[in-house]
Amino acid sequence: MGRLAGKVTYVTGAASGIGLECARRFANEGAVVVGADLRTNDSWAEVVAAAPAAGFHVLDVRDEAGQLAVAADIVATHGRIDVVVTAAGIAGGGFVHNMTLESWQLVQDVNITGTFLTAKAVLPAMIAQRSGSIITVASVEGLEGCEGGSTYNASKGAVVLLTKNLACDYGAAGIRANSICPGFIDTPLLQSVVANMPYADQIKAQHKLGRFGRPDEIAGAAFFLASDDSSFVTGVALPVDGGYVAGHSYGVSKMLFGGA
Ligand SMILES: NC(=O)c1ccc[n+]([C@@H]2O[C@H](COP(=O)([O-])OP(=O)(O)OC[C@H]3O[C@@H](n4cnc5c(N)ncnc54)[C@H](O)[C@@H]3O)[C@@H](O)[C@H]2O)c1
Repeated sequence: MGRLAGKVTYVTGAASGIGLECARRFANEGAVVVGADLRTNDSWAEVVAAAPAAGFHVLDVRDEAGQLAVAADIVATHGRIDVVVTAAGIAGGGFVHNMTLESWQLVQDVNITGTFLTAKAVLPAMIAQRSGSIITVASVEGLEGCEGGSTYNASKGAVVLLTKNLACDYGAAGIRANSICPGFIDTPLLQSVVANMPYADQIKAQHKLGRFGRPDEIAGAAFFLASDDSSFVTGVALPVDGGYVAGHSYGVSKMLFGGA
C-alpha cells in the first residue's frame, strides 16, 4: 500500500513541470489526486492511469469563484482535502525602471494572489476536518534577491511569508503550512527562460551540486511534506536547491575536486 493511501490531494499547475511531477508522485504513493491548470495535456493521462480517482479541473488560479467551485467539487466527490500543492506559477522579471505596471501585476496576480486564493478555497474543508497540509511552491528567489528578479522575487518572497502566516494562523486547527523553495529546476518554464540566457552556465554554477534540479526532486520534498513523516513540520521554507542558498562559492572547491 502506498504511503499516501487514503489521502485526498489537490495540485495546481498540475499539467506541467513541478506540479505534474508532484501529482505523479502522489498517485504512485496511493493518493487520490485532483489536478487543476489552465489546460490539460497528455501527461496528465499517466497520472490518471496510476490513480484511478484522479480528476482534473480547468482553472485559472486568479479566478476566486473557480477556485471555490473546484474545492467544493473535491469535497463533494471525495469528502475531504488532506493536501494541497500550489504549483501554478509564471516566470517574469526585469529591471524596475523598465517594467510596465501590467507585467509587474501579472506575476503578482498568478504567483501570490493565486496562492492566496487556493489556500482560501481549501481552508474551510481543512478547518472542518481539523487537519491538512498546505504546500506552497515558492523559490530560492523568494529567499534572496537576484539580478533582474524584481516582480518574480517579490511574489515568491510573499509566498514564503504568506505560508509562514498560514502556519501561525491554522496550527491550532491541526493544519500545517510549508513552502518548498526550489533552485533552478529543468522544466518547460526554465527552458523558456534560459533558452535566451547567455549566462545560464553561471546560474547553474550557483548550485553547489553543479547542475539544475529535476522536477521529481521537488516532488520528493512535496511527498515528505504531504506525508505523516512531516507531522511536526510547519512554517518552514525548505530550499530544495542543490545548495544554491547555502552560501557563496568562488571556485576553490572546483579547483580541488573538479566537477561540473
Ligand atoms: N522551474 C524552476 O526553475 C522553478 C524554480 C523555482 C520555483 N518554481 C516555481 O514552481 C512552480 C511550477 O513551475 P514549473 O517550473 O513547473 O513551470 P511550468 O511552466 O512547467 O508549470 C507551471 C504550470 O502552471 C500553470 N499555470 C500558469 N498560470 C496559471 C494560472 N493562472 N492558473 C492555473 N495554472 C497556471 C501552467 O499552465 C503550467 O502548467 C511555479 O510556481 C514556479 O514559479 C520553478
